[in-house]
This record gives sequence, structure tokens and C-alpha cells, in this order.
Amino acid sequence: MKILVTGSAGYIGSVVCELLIEQGHSVVGLDNFGNGHQQASIPGTMTYNANVNDEEQLDSIFTNHEPEAVIHLAAKSLVGESVTNPSKYYGANVVESLALLQKMTEYGVTKIVFSSSAAVYGEPEKTPITEKQAPNPINPYGETKRAFEEILKWYEHAYGLRYIALRYFNAAGATSLFGEHHTPETHLIPIILDVALQQDRPMKIFGDDYETPDGTCIRDYVHVIDIANAHIDALRSLEKKPSGIYNIGNGIGFSNREIYETAKQITGQNIPLQITPRRDGDPAILVASNDKAGNDLGWNAKHSELAEIIQSAWDWKKKFPHGYE
Ligand SMILES: NC(=O)c1ccc[n+]([C@@H]2O[C@H](COP(=O)([O-])OP(=O)(O)OC[C@H]3O[C@@H](n4cnc5c(N)ncnc54)[C@H](O)[C@@H]3O)[C@@H](O)[C@H]2O)c1
Repeated sequence: MKILVTGSAGYIGSVVCELLIEQGHSVVGLDNFGNGHQQASIPGTMTYNANVNDEEQLDSIFTNHEPEAVIHLAAKSLVGESVTNPSKYYGANVVESLALLQKMTEYGVTKIVFSSSAAVYGEPEKTPITEKQAPNPINPYGETKRAFEEILKWYEHAYGLRYIALRYFNAAGATSLFGEHHTPETHLIPIILDVALQQDRPMKIFGDDYETPDGTCIRDYVHVIDIANAHIDALRSLEKKPSGIYNIGNGIGFSNREIYETAKQITGQNIPLQITPRRDGDPAILVASNDKAGNDLGWNAKHSELAEIIQSAWDWKKKFPHGYE
């Protein structure tokens, strides 16, 4: 299948492209390189350096490459920044992304897999979180993801667009080629590995007085290879099954302290640690139920061990100590 991947030069996008090509699909990428990296493009992939609402470039892509489906990962995704600058988030994640849907409609492309997020849920009502929990985002980032899910629903109703929205939990890990390099980096595993390598600052854990077995927050980390494979399963499902929304998580929670201890073991480094007060808005536990994705898409997390996830990220980090710079 020929697929347009937006956000193809980002962390998850690079691995999605890698696995699509590995599994015999043909890929055209689009990225404005705002947060992406030239080196994160798989050799041989044509990548358009364009914004997701660049009509001229989209015309060129749809005319010259005739993609049969779109995987839409391009988005701004810093929660804190979305609170201080919501206009940037509604602009990129909703308004600009609408232009992509318009073009899909114009060119008769009817299948889309969309990167949504666990952020649509807000505070969990119970653990693990199932797709039945009503969305209630607590920041503009989560709101934009939820808004786009709703847009997809109405585009299906009006124009026959078929979609799968994947609500990822915390992506982590790497392949031998591509790993996580965000600026600024806000994700725990790349930060802890950077501290292990640089030894220039302490690793911060925000709060150890939560109601969890070791007092630190518990999150669902899912290997980026598993996330990438979920897109391929979703495309397959769109061939004959209805549209839908799915959690993509490991289904297993790991505490911050567990991550710290595992990272220490894997890196063999003594990682300086600082426990600081809780941050506002951090729930104690966020873990996905992944049963629906298992039942409907046939997806499951194959790389679910924390040690494997961290080892892959560490191997990549040692190879590329400064990321793609
Ligand atoms: N990383 C996670 O743990 C996580 C969790 C939940 C959801 N998500 C979602 O998954 C997607 C990918 O996340 P990621 O971690 O790979 O992020 P990333 O920032 O590494 O990748 C996003 C890519 O999209 C590009 N981009 C952003 N806005 C664009 C625009 N308007 N036009 C063209 N290109 C644009 C960036 O340059 C970047 O290369 C995002 O939609 C994010 O919200 C990520």
C-alpha cells in the first residue's frame, strides 16, 4: 500500500516509516522539520519539507504519489506549552490539520490513522483506563486531540472518511536506527539516560508520596516498535472493519522509581537522583486497558518488558549521544 505519513521525521513517525517499508509498503513523508530531523528519515523515502496545511505541496503529493491512506502524526505535543500558548496548539493540531482532511476529501483518499493521545482522558476514573471512559482533557493539548477525533467522526458521517484514532500512552524505546530526540525533552526515559551519560545534573522525580506501592507515579510505557505496528494493524483493519478509537498502551504500569532502578542496572551508571515536590495535575496512576485493540485490531504489545524498552533506548543513546545533532 502507498501511504502518506505526516510527522515522518519525528520520533514515532520515523519508526512508523521504517516498519512500513520493512513490511513492503511504500511511503511518502511530510514534515516541516519544526521538531523533526533530516537524519530521522529512512533512506530512500521521499520527504516533503512542508507544513501540513501547505496546499501546493499536498496537491503535489496527492497527484504524484497517489497515496491510498494517510497516517497523521504531525502535531505539537508539549502539554505545558499548550497551556501557556493554546493558540499554537489549536492552530497546528486542529486548524492546519483540517487542511489535510480537505485535501484527502478532494482527492478521494478515504483512510486515515490518527495519532491521538491518552491526554484525551484527563484524570482517570478507574485503572486500567478503557475507551469507555468519557474524554475529559485537562489541557489544551488533550483538547486538540479530542477535537480532531470528533472532526474525524463527522467527516466520516458527511464524506465517508474512514478512520482509526490511536490513543497512545507513553512512547518509549528505539530501533537500531531511530530513537527519541525532542527539544526540549520532557519524557522520563530519554532524560534519565541523558543524565546517566552526561552525569551533569540529578535526575528529578516529582513526588514520592503518591498512593502507589513505592510512592512514585505509575505510567504506561509502550515500545515505539509496538506503537508503529499498531498503525499497520490499523490500516489493515480499515480495509474491512469500521472506524474506531483505540488505546495503545502496554497495559502494564511502571513507577518512576522502577524506571530509575532499571535504568541504573542497564546503564551500569550511578544516576544522581533528586526527589522534588509533586507537580500540579499529575495523577498517581495512568495505565491503559489494551483489550479493545487486541480484540478488534489483533494488536498487542510484543516488547512489553521494561528492561527491553530501556535497553533499546540506551543502545540508541550510546550510538547517538547527542541524538541527531
Ligand atoms: N511521544 C509520545 O509519547 C506520544 C504520546 C501520545 C501521543 N503522541 C502523538 O504522536 C505524534 C508523534 O509524536 P512524537 O513524539 O513522534 O512527536 P515529534 O515531535 O517527535 O514528531 C512530530 C513531527 O511532526 C512534525 N510537525 C509538527 N507540526 C507539523 C505541521 N504543522 N506540519 C508538518 N509537520 C509538523 C514535527 O516537525 C515532528 O517531526 C504526535 O501527534 C503526538 O501528539 C505522542
